[in-house]
Amino acid sequence: MNFNYLFPSVVAQDFFDDHGKIEKNLVSYVMKLKKEIKSGGRNWVSKDTYTTLNEYDVLKDDKFKTINDFVMNAIANYINELHINYNFNCASGWFNVYGKNDFQEYHNHVAHTLSAIYFLKSNQNENARLWFKRPFANRSNDIKSDKNEIFDERYFYKPISGSVVVFPSSLEHCVEKETSNKTRITMAYNFNMNNKSEV
Ligand SMILES: [Fe+2]
Repeated sequence: MNFNYLFPSVVAQDFFDDHGKIEKNLVSYVMKLKKEIKSGGRNWVSKDTYTTLNEYDVLKDDKFKTINDFVMNAIANYINELHINYNFNCASGWFNVYGKNDFQEYHNHVAHTLSAIYFLKSNQNENARLWFKRPFANRSNDIKSDKNEIFDERYFYKPISGSVVVFPSSLEHCVEKETSNKTRITMAYNFNMNNKSEV
């Protein structure tokens, strides 16, 4: 019997080797900015979660350049690995600070093509996890299996500091409620697909 895995949602994870060298300084810088910039995300249900979405562009701040470059490189790797022969540009970048009881409801970034989340400060065993939901999940008649994860309704990534998760912007995702007293900080990015590349 021949099987085709048609139309999969491809999520990729990468790790920044130099994360340890930049985390401390950037975390203090982020916490300083948080005091100066009002929170965005006015249409979010999770209004207590601090975000600079639409309020502060990390792409224009050289202090974030090392992480911005790493994330751009991760996008380039994703595109190359999957033979996507289109150019991409980074449309926006922002950061999020989660305190105890903060969360973010399921949502997508459908105005864009690819999105990325970088874990700037998090404890992988204590902080809230990032969840993805299978498209059209919750239909009662869909195939289920306890032994094959491709049929799972949802899938989580641990918040590993220094890791980035790249995913199609249309894929629904959320952050579960933060139960730890330890602050969880993420950077988020959206990318748009442009013209076909030369190669
Ligand atoms: Fe998101």
